[in-house]
Amino acid sequence: RPLASLNTFGIAVQAERFAVLHSRDQLPDLIEQCRVHGGAFFLGGGSNILLTRDLPGLTVKVDLRGMEIDRSAADAIRVTVASGENWHASVMSLLEQGVPGLENLALIPGTVGAAPIQNIGAYGLEVSERIESVEVLDWQAGTVEQLDAQACQFAYRESVFKRNPGRWLVLSVTFRLPHPQQWHASVAYRELADELQRLLDAPAATATPQQVADAVIAIRSRKLPDPRQIGNAGSFFKNPVVSSHERRALLESHPDLVNYPQPDGSYKLAAGWLIDRCGWKGRQIGTAGVHANQALVLVNRGGASGADIMALAQAIQSDVHDRFGVTLEPEPVFL
Ligand code: EPU
Repeated sequence: RPLASLNTFGIAVQAERFAVLHSRDQLPDLIEQCRVHGGAFFLGGGSNILLTRDLPGLTVKVDLRGMEIDRSAADAIRVTVASGENWHASVMSLLEQGVPGLENLALIPGTVGAAPIQNIGAYGLEVSERIESVEVLDWQAGTVEQLDAQACQFAYRESVFKRNPGRWLVLSVTFRLPHPQQWHASVAYRELADELQRLLDAPAATATPQQVADAVIAIRSRKLPDPRQIGNAGSFFKNPVVSSHERRALLESHPDLVNYPQPDGSYKLAAGWLIDRCGWKGRQIGTAGVHANQALVLVNRGGASGADIMALAQAIQSDVHDRFGVTLEPEPVFL
């Protein structure tokens, strides 16, 4: 089965065996198949992976659907969404139904089931802040379990799922979202606040949830390539975290270094800025390129292989390391 249309990088590799999970009724059969093949690769929207070769064994495209909204508790609205639902469509559907809380994460590609795996985050919000629990299939044990947020071990673009690839299949995610009267706009991220101010001609904090979503969509559309038009997996590197000592040393030689203080006293650096400073923005090696509007995003300019993207990534890592002494860690999962 060709996988080019099932990964947003558009890498043309094949799956040896391929199945689609449409319904929970298929779970007993899926468990059996996983046991026969020694596991499976569970594919969501394919927007955070780099395929470097044909996939041996079984690949399962997760297409479970459905959303349930429970407004009965006073503290929060609880929403359970099946893992195969599209992330952005779910955020928009919730806003239309009067359920705010995920608007900062509008327009992120991929599925709901993939969101907790890399703990998607943008514009001042990480999805882990809104997750109550994640329902998973443990195919080895043959059981369905609910992992609460603590058991998910969320961190910046990390989780227990990302650290244990193939162990669980995410079936659904339950979010804890504010009732509209409890909601307030999260607009601490400078670029978002500025965009809202411009859109509304009023302070960003007065925005409605839909207006926050509109502003996020406007910013993302300007900077990030649409994977339907040009293959990419969003940020290709994590923003590196350095100690206050390292930051001070870097600031001496690079006074305009973009950096953000973290709660634990360390500092996050803007990887896009580091890559940009090395002159990589808009450049390419063969058909693997660096996006012209955002140096953190690597793109497939047509026909690139996983190895081509990796070669470009390594050239960038090596330049950034030589110039700043900082190691960039890839963000997508390599297969
Ligand atoms: N910058 C440059 N040149 C560039 C790119 C960025 O100088 O080519 C500078 C910008 O001027 C800005 C700073 O770097 O001051 C940060 O840029 P931006 O606000 O675009 O955010 P980012 O650090 O590049 C992160 C996330 C994005 C998320 C945005 C907004 C990571 C790895 N990436 O990007 O997430 O949308 O913040 O919150 O943390 C993703 O993970 O796939 C992703 C797109």
